[in-house]
Amino acid sequence: MTSSKDAAKTTLRTLKAGEIAPGMRLQYYEHAAMDRAHHKFTALLGALPLVDERAFGNLLEQIYQEAKEHFEQEERFMLATEFDQYAGHKAQHDALLDVLNAHRANLKAGEQPNAVELQLEICRWQDQHQQDWDYPLADFLRCRASWMNSESKVI
Ligand SMILES: [Fe+2]
Repeated sequence: MTSSKDAAKTTLRTLKAGEIAPGMRLQYYEHAAMDRAHHKFTALLGALPLVDERAFGNLLEQIYQEAKEHFEQEERFMLATEFDQYAGHKAQHDALLDVLNAHRANLKAGEQPNAVELQLEICRWQDQHQQDWDYPLADFLRCRASWMNSESKVI
């Protein structure tokens, strides 16, 4: 008989990236700040099933902080450039922060989340978010004109 820890390790070894999130891959937006943030976030997600219960809380906290800082940066970019998808994009960010906050609260209450399920949940969110929201933002930010204010001064 195998324990749930052994089952999680077995699941990790047999899953292929395409099974976790079919469209997910290391993204390149050709925007240095967004690339750096996304690659760091992806690396943190990759560590989720690999840490033991004692380290899990620290990793979850790091994932939350990284997501929060990265989302705030994207939101500053959107506000500075008057990007018209700000409200919808921010709502997506807030939804993931709510999910992460719920897991943080559960952990504080003594409930140990299933690391593989949490990783799958966040990877699916990330995959969808990148395609629907981050690519259009990166395309817009790469355009020099987006960084000009209405008086044509570089901001
Ligand atoms: Fe985003």
